Amino acid sequence: MATHNEKIIILDFGSQTTQLIARRVREQKVYSEIHPYTLELDRLREMKPSGIILSGGPASVYDEDAPISDVGIFDLGIPVLGICYGAQLMMQQLGGLVEKAEKREFGKAELLIEQPGGIFAGMDAAPARYQVWMSHGDRVKKAAPGFEITASSAHSPMAALRHQDKPFVAVQFHPEVVHTPIGADILRNFIFDLCGCHPTWTMRSFIESTVEQVRNKVNGGKVICALSGGVDSSVTAALVHRAVGDQLTCIYVNNGLMRTGETESVLRFFRKKSDLHVIDVDAVSFFLDELKGVVDPEEKRKRIGLGFIKIFEEEARKLGDVKYLAQGTLYPDVIESVVFRGKAPIKSHHNVGGLPERMRLDLIEPLRELFKDEVRELGQELGLPEEAVMRQPFPGPGLGIRIMGEVTGERLHIIRQADVIVLEEMKKSGWYHKVWQSFAVLLPIQTVGVMGDSRTYEHVIAIRSVDSRDAMTADWSRLPYDLLGRISNRIINEVRGVNRVVLDISSKPPSTIEWE
Ligand code: XMP
Repeated sequence: MATHNEKIIILDFGSQTTQLIARRVREQKVYSEIHPYTLELDRLREMKPSGIILSGGPASVYDEDAPISDVGIFDLGIPVLGICYGAQLMMQQLGGLVEKAEKREFGKAELLIEQPGGIFAGMDAAPARYQVWMSHGDRVKKAAPGFEITASSAHSPMAALRHQDKPFVAVQFHPEVVHTPIGADILRNFIFDLCGCHPTWTMRSFIESTVEQVRNKVNGGKVICALSGGVDSSVTAALVHRAVGDQLTCIYVNNGLMRTGETESVLRFFRKKSDLHVIDVDAVSFFLDELKGVVDPEEKRKRIGLGFIKIFEEEARKLGDVKYLAQGTLYPDVIESVVFRGKAPIKSHHNVGGLPERMRLDLIEPLRELFKDEVRELGQELGLPEEAVMRQPFPGPGLGIRIMGEVTGERLHIIRQADVIVLEEMKKSGWYHKVWQSFAVLLPIQTVGVMGDSRTYEHVIAIRSVDSRDAMTADWSRLPYDLLGRISNRIINEVRGVNRVVLDISSKPPSTIEWE
């Protein structure tokens, strides 16, 4: 939504690390955006990028159905950096030759810089050998006319190339990953020296431009925002409020799937400590009814989503004449919905999708371009307190997707108590802020135990804690055994109906963070 004077456009050819390229550029305080490689030349020209980066990707440029971007990109007079597949494509499109390598090169490699300067400026300490990360099965056999080799590795004699007169550079390795320690310097040289950008993209400049745009767009109309108390909706509400003040009404729906004390603390916080106007709706029994007998995860998600829409719609109608809906969509959601890979969504994420069409509302998505950690930074800049900004993410469908099987009042009671214990112990031990998310999951089975002299046959709780940067990938957290022991002991002793606690040690992929 915001416009940025200087930007780097990344064309995505399907690499796992395309998002990382965007992050690395933004870390240099230059705005960057990812688009599918099919982006039309005219649109690209209109965006006036300062530079273009062609990402890596799993295909081979000589495949019949290889993803190929418009060759006209090289006539725009804009600097281009090709990475891995992007480098090979650049070579092929400009008249070079790419072939299958004898050996696939995957992992760390040693880069020998042969021509310092350019993207390697500042890296000329002799001997100029640096570790880089490679992941490719093809290699450049013949450089395109006008290009010279600037670096090589054992298996890639043409590991980096540059055009002698034009601002085109190609690297076979991945500068965006941490296993290429000089990667940030390379990107910096590209962005500032070749593209001539300035490091001006900060959260403060983002707030200024976004506030102005939201104000212009809304132009006196009424805006509603679903406020859950989570980071994204809180920051969205604060930002939109800064733009349009009392034209914004926030609606908090208690769907009965919240954690212990959550509703009270969210409402207390926003009513006492902010100027937001918040309406709250008690829909606890409505949702329990909707979920009666539902076991299938997707069905649960759909019912919760639809139920939410229904309630929200009713409330908005009461307000009358609402024109806009503010929503905390983040950049990964936007990228995940880019469809060129043609895959079905993994989970129907719960947001208020469907609502805008039904109510003919215009969307305001001020966080559309940001990653989660950027949203947190923005929240801090907007003056939201630490506890609101640094909270772990909590999914829209709430505890509904942390209870495997049917959601009932009794099972909600169990999961809530276990959840409180996990959070208390994580906070007490200082681990709460070290991990991305940590929570309890109630399993749909019972197991045998012994308590006192009696046999028990009760529920099982699984502990899930993951480390992640943006939830796209995640690994299970290596929590200390004594912390796990305390959590397990407390849950089994304090939560009636649970006699066993297990630990989830799966990473994403192939698992997901939530169990449903
Ligand atoms: P998964 O389970 O897909 O979760 O690996 C990735 C991240 O998204 C959160 N999550 C959701 N957040 N609505 C949300 O707002 C949802 O429907 C939803 N489902 C999962 C999850 O907690 C994790 O942080």
